[in-house]
Amino acid sequence: MKISFAFLAAVAGGLVGCSQRDHSGASLSAKPHGNLTPKVATENGRLIFLTGRDRDGLKIVAASPPLRPSCAACHGANGAGGQKFTDGAVSADLRHAALAGKQKPPYTIVSLERAISHGIDNQGKPLDKVMPRWKLSQNDLSDVAHYVYAYLK
Ligand code: HEC
Repeated sequence: MKISFAFLAAVAGGLVGCSQRDHSGASLSAKPHGNLTPKVATENGRLIFLTGRDRDGLKIVAASPPLRPSCAACHGANGAGGQKFTDGAVSADLRHAALAGKQKPPYTIVSLERAISHGIDNQGKPLDKVMPRWKLSQNDLSDVAHYVYAYLK
């Protein structure tokens, strides 16, 4: 929770890249292991989303073998989605305006994590089975949810 809060605070403050240094040295000061800094969390989330491997090189896995290895392979690198699958499913638009703007109720980090890991959407309904039920560590789950929530525009 501490990590998420710090990360959200950084995002809410509109702090990006090196400007973080000016405002909150604390959130950027590199701690080699254990304590994830927001920057590392973002990078890990980005890696998972784009490549299907986390920063340790571990391949992400799901409850049943996923049709494709990474989020980007189905949702597109920018998260726009729109890819059609044989069972009629269409990959969802994961950009912020779609998830937190158009959707009712808007997705939150918590409901995003639930969608990614349990395939339950923001209204409590099961997502199409083409969307894998990902089995991620809590860190990886949180990082990829934050990446989707804050970085897909
Ligand atoms: C094999 C293709 C595939 C992969 C890989 C995949 N998704 Fe999906 N995803 C889908 C489809 C298809 C849907 C739409 C399901 C539906 O309409 O019920 C979806 C829906 C979602 C939703 C729900 C959005 C909404 O509007 O309710 C989220 C969140 C999501 N995916 C995130 C991810 C993340 C994060 C990853 C990577 C860890 C990922 N997906 C990997 C196919 C995929």
